[in-house]
Amino acid sequence: MEAKRAAAERAVEWIRDGMTVGLGTGSTVQPFIQAVGRKVAEGLAIKAVATSVRSEELARELGIPIIPFSDVEEIDFTVDGADEVDPAWHLIKGGGGALLREKIVADASKRLIVIVDESKLVRHLGKFPLPVEVVPFGFELTRRKLTRLGCEPKLRMADSRPYLTDNGNYIMDCAFGDILQPGRLAEELHRIPGVVEHGLFVGMTAEVVVGRADGTAYLLER
Ligand code: A5P
Repeated sequence: MEAKRAAAERAVEWIRDGMTVGLGTGSTVQPFIQAVGRKVAEGLAIKAVATSVRSEELARELGIPIIPFSDVEEIDFTVDGADEVDPAWHLIKGGGGALLREKIVADASKRLIVIVDESKLVRHLGKFPLPVEVVPFGFELTRRKLTRLGCEPKLRMADSRPYLTDNGNYIMDCAFGDILQPGRLAEELHRIPGVVEHGLFVGMTAEVVVGRADGTAYLLER
């Protein structure tokens, strides 16, 4: 937890008055949102957009002004976590189920700042099963098509029912093993009609902040 907090505290230093900031989702972003809340209480004037219902609720509790995504013209930067980061800063995201909104918000941001602890740095993506958001209609067929790409898709469950995303979709956690060409896999996934979005974030990352267990953090060099 100390490592996550260290990365989160480092990212807060980028925020300035007047900015619009994207709030990611997950256990690393949680201390970031808490730190933003403390700054807002001290007088920092920002607007924020959230990538999940969970993050929005936390931000509101802390008094961070949340604006609807439809009102956003441009996001100065978004701070988000990741499940894996490779040496080219491609990511796997979506372990917490918020990948679709996270990708829409990241795409609308001038910069995506990723905060992680050292356990998330990998040589190749893919040890963490890739989350793929699929529409419930025809998901069995979608699962078969995913299998043909070389993975073992597992329907994510919660309380003995399919897990539902904030958008009312299902998640398939797809164990691919080493993903050597993330860009190519991303294109192949998008060709499957039932796939809404996937957790590969290819070429979207502007900075990676890595927290250490001793409470320090550093900027990753590419
Ligand atoms: C949420 O859906 C995810 O994309 C998270 O950003 C990712 O799973 C990292 O989460 P943690 O910070 O909790 O590890």
